[in-house]
Amino acid sequence: MPSNQQSTYYVTTPIYYVNDEPHLGHLYTTVAADVLARHQRLSGIDTYFLTGVDEHGLKVQQAAEARGIAPIDLADEVVAHYRALWPKFSISNDDFIRTSSEHHKRGVAAMWNRLRDAGALYKGFYEDWYCVPCETYWTETQLKEHGEDGVCPDCRRSVEKVQEESWFFRLSDYQQPLLDYYAAHPDFIGPDSRRNEVMRFVEGGLNDLSVSRNTFTWGVPVPDDAGHVIYVWIDALTNYLSALGFPDEDAEAMRFWPADIHLIGKDILRFHAIYWPAMLMAAGLPLPKRIFAHGWWTVDGEKMSKSKGNALQPAQMLEQVDADVIRYFLLREVPFGHDGDFSFDALKRRYNSELANDLGNMVNRTLSMLHKYRGGVLGVVHAEQAEYRAWIADIEAMQQEVDAAINTQAFHLALERIHQVVRHGNRMVEESAPWRLAKQGDDDRLDSVLYHLVEGLRLVVLQLSPFMPSKCDQLMAQIMGERAGLEQNLTHHGGWGLLTVGHRCAEPVPVFPRMEL
Ligand code: MSP
Repeated sequence: MPSNQQSTYYVTTPIYYVNDEPHLGHLYTTVAADVLARHQRLSGIDTYFLTGVDEHGLKVQQAAEARGIAPIDLADEVVAHYRALWPKFSISNDDFIRTSSEHHKRGVAAMWNRLRDAGALYKGFYEDWYCVPCETYWTETQLKEHGEDGVCPDCRRSVEKVQEESWFFRLSDYQQPLLDYYAAHPDFIGPDSRRNEVMRFVEGGLNDLSVSRNTFTWGVPVPDDAGHVIYVWIDALTNYLSALGFPDEDAEAMRFWPADIHLIGKDILRFHAIYWPAMLMAAGLPLPKRIFAHGWWTVDGEKMSKSKGNALQPAQMLEQVDADVIRYFLLREVPFGHDGDFSFDALKRRYNSELANDLGNMVNRTLSMLHKYRGGVLGVVHAEQAEYRAWIADIEAMQQEVDAAINTQAFHLALERIHQVVRHGNRMVEESAPWRLAKQGDDDRLDSVLYHLVEGLRLVVLQLSPFMPSKCDQLMAQIMGERAGLEQNLTHHGGWGLLTVGHRCAEPVPVFPRMEL
């Protein structure tokens, strides 16, 4: 069963800026984190799944000004959209953090004080560039190295000149400690290509980081220096700890620190893999175990953008497709870590072939035959034939491999492996031809094949449930019949043979109707 023997698991998403509505990119990370959380819970592990919003900084302040409202009012509005959205996609977060909350601000101030007390902060003067959309500082040299003058190397929008008194974090002190840490912890950053990218960047040298601003106010005030607000990334990164109760070391949720994984997009890797670990080292706190950066989605071949108006909004996508199908597609279509292209056509093709045809068929055929020939009731298994031993072995291998794939964030491989078992099951139906056995009156073999199919399906659905929770609830209800609603988990129900003679399945109701292209 699950290889993961630890007792707690903590997974986070980035906290999303409230300058704008949720889009496909936000959904992607959140669904991936949800699958990790659900898979761990299924394995009996005490799990904490955090998501939330990043409310401070110049970008949000400017977005609010553009609408003529206060930043907190803009934040409240966007937060309401996030809170309404996540349940529609079965997102099972244990907490939703807002950086405007008092407990978060207290955590940020405590983090600041720890850094200051450790001698990691000093006051100086910042004179260089800033990209508001990315909330990132750039030096003149970095801008020159990356081409165009006056343009952010990351997002290609205009940077602005900043000249103001500022607090600095001694990031340059952490170049070697970070390189040593990456070397000693090869799994710290995933995928490997991103790890190499970060290492090359750090090897190139680190500048001290400006960590306060004194020309706007929408942020957490610097303790004992009220004219300054703390840099929004220092504020935001601290959410992963403040949500657990930091700085109260004995807050109950602090048992989840260090985080098992921070899931993020590739664009915010530098903040998570360089600034955050350096801050934690300076503050004398344990580092997260892993940071995984996924790729970006385009839509119909184009970059999503506000100006093009092609940013896919998850709530609107639901008008066309079921939430679980979107979840499945996002994690099945593109290896996690790669960029991908979203189109409804590709989604429908994949849905029709893997879910409507293969899985849907296996469930419908199996349960229909069980009802037609056996009144919905499982009979005695007589023969221990080689084909059944191979079927059980395939399912047990699948369980191991899915666990390993999910634990390395290779979601597409997990789904591919589950799908292989489904195809195996459909082949078994074809080859054993239960309709012929029924005609021949070969009840022993009929009962055996139907039992193996139903019990196999149950284990397939259990493994698939983190990916498609509500579809799998429906499938499980049909398989479990009157025993539906039994708490399902891999530790207690993941072994072969839970269903026994006399178990009655419910009538099949199609869960994956074909979609028109
Ligand atoms: N507030 C910061 C994160 C702070 S975490 C301590 C932030 N917010 S964001 O709202 O701009 O973006 C959040 C996430 O959305 C990032 O991980 C980013 O990679 C992801 N995406 C934005 N557009 C995306 C796509 N087109 N495709 C996939 N993910 C994308 O950054």
